[in-house]
Amino acid sequence: MHPRIKIAIDGFSSCGKSTLAKQLAKKLGYAYIDSGAMYRAVTLHFLRNAIDLNAADEVAQALQEIEISIVPGMAQDCVLLNGEDVTHRIREMLVAEKVSEVAAIKSVRIFAVAQQKALSQSGGVVMDGRDIGTVVFPDAELKIFMTADPAIRVVRRFHELESKKQPVTIEEVQRNLELRDYIDSNRDESPLRKAEDARVLDNTNLDPTEQLELALQWSRDAIHEKAALPA
Ligand code: C5P
Repeated sequence: MHPRIKIAIDGFSSCGKSTLAKQLAKKLGYAYIDSGAMYRAVTLHFLRNAIDLNAADEVAQALQEIEISIVPGMAQDCVLLNGEDVTHRIREMLVAEKVSEVAAIKSVRIFAVAQQKALSQSGGVVMDGRDIGTVVFPDAELKIFMTADPAIRVVRRFHELESKKQPVTIEEVQRNLELRDYIDSNRDESPLRKAEDARVLDNTNLDPTEQLELALQWSRDAIHEKAALPA
């Protein structure tokens, strides 16, 4: 029986983290957890309830009213916000425009990280986000830091939103990615950083199959390394 490890995937917006994380989890028979979906669900709740992000008590109260669950589905996992399926809603530009501001709030991060840790206690998990290798799973057996040429990331995200019939221009997508990367990298609380022991995966010139093969090889190496350690 092989040991089941934790795999942390971090990186800038629209680098293909979730595509790789999902495929890797499927191949290894692990759970996949999209940590960004949690910050997006919190943001949707705050927007709907016009929460003042500068009012700490209002934010704390709103967090107490939120219950997020991720239900594994056939085609994709469903994100439930207080029982309501918000899987598609949280991908809209309205949420994307606010999420990095919400995710920079300390109490929001404490709330989300507690849930992420609770969901992954037994190992055998792939989680993607911005602080997984540095804060959520500093002990992950495999950490991957993904990056790709910014222009390519913009085009990829634009096509993804277009295919979902979302009315956006390529300039809006570019502005949103630049802004999110800037806020995510420069915030005080758990800024986006490559963990010292993370492997860098630049997928600018890799197709999804090549990228998956590389990550699978790294995963097998990490599993073998753990198996070789004394129990
Ligand atoms: O991964 P995704 O693009 O859906 O994440 C949306 C936003 O949530 C990010 O731009 C970032 O502001 C925030 N996030 C975070 N930490 C994570 C995952 C996401 O701050 N672990």
